[in-house]
Amino acid sequence: MKIIKKEILVHAQSTRITQLAILAPDIAKRAMPGQFVVLMTHEEGERIPLTVVSKSEGEGTIGLIFQEVGLTTKLLGMLNVGDSLYALAGPLGHSTKIKNYGKVIIVGGGVGIAEIYPVAQALKNAGNHITTIIGARSKDIFILEEELKGASDELYITTDDGSYGRKGFTTDVLVELLRKDTYNLIYAVGPIPMMKKVSLATGGSGIKTIVSLNALMVDATGMCGCCRVTVAGKTKFSCVDGPEFDGHLVEWEELEKRNTVYLDKEKKACSLVAALNKK
Ligand SMILES: Cc1cc2nc3c(=O)[nH]c(=O)nc-3n(C[C@H](O)[C@H](O)[C@H](O)COP(=O)(O)OP(=O)(O)OC[C@H]3O[C@@H](n4cnc5c(N)ncnc54)[C@H](O)[C@@H]3O)c2cc1C
Ligand code: FES
Repeated sequence: MKIIKKEILVHAQSTRITQLAILAPDIAKRAMPGQFVVLMTHEEGERIPLTVVSKSEGEGTIGLIFQEVGLTTKLLGMLNVGDSLYALAGPLGHSTKIKNYGKVIIVGGGVGIAEIYPVAQALKNAGNHITTIIGARSKDIFILEEELKGASDELYITTDDGSYGRKGFTTDVLVELLRKDTYNLIYAVGPIPMMKKVSLATGGSGIKTIVSLNALMVDATGMCGCCRVTVAGKTKFSCVDGPEFDGHLVEWEELEKRNTVYLDKEKKACSLVAALNKK
């Protein structure tokens, strides 16, 4: 659970995205694309889920990429090479079903770009034709562009402000591609509004659309019910039934509401960390 490498990938516009290599030989042996770990930075800390973005069985390490958005990700960002996590569990969740689907579009938004990377690599290695669309607010907060170029046959870039690639959203490119050609699978990870829009865009054509949901999690073992989502009218637990689901069957409005349940407490916790940092 020791941090072996640390690299700040983005530090701009109050966005900080960091990559860590963590010693975890057992997880490195078993982790598959689409799976995640749950970690605690300190004994009294909360548990947060992060995707296993890469692994090296030889070095016994797993790679995590995280954006600082609240208390625990900020505390994680304060740890340095040589420090150890308090707890780490995984790999968790079902892995992505990797096979030759044919023509696949992979969509990643924000830090979701890190989460699509292992899936893009595995689907490419399985012989799929990969078209990747990645989007961020602006040029200086992009991650893994070169890596995704290597894992894709075609790569499209969008920024909200037009500072890089095409001005607009990932879904604008998706809609255009769907008009011109037929695809067998769409895979999307990013903010909930993006995954919802992707699912709406493909709903009419019925193309298989997989999304990896970022529901709030506590224990991540199916015990607490915190991560429950409604899929095809049935209650599912994201941690053990997911995190991937058919985007056409997810009740998005409910997920949006549930993910803001602790917003007040999260804001309070964040201001405490900010105050600690100033001291
Ligand atoms: C299966 C899974 C895999 C994930 N993989 C990654 C990853 O590889 N890299 C990464 O940076 N993040 C990932 N996330 C999101 C990450 O878990 C959250 O950002 C983290 O839990 C926030 O904790 P915090 O204490 O720092 O922030 P909090 O104080 O808990 O929240 C701060 C803000 O972040 C939002 N937030 C909280 N939890 C989540 C969440 N689960 N998803 C999205 N926004 C959230 C809150 O609504 C709030 O606005 C993943 C989530 C899941 C469920
Ligand atoms: S996080 Fe508790 S049931 Fe999924």
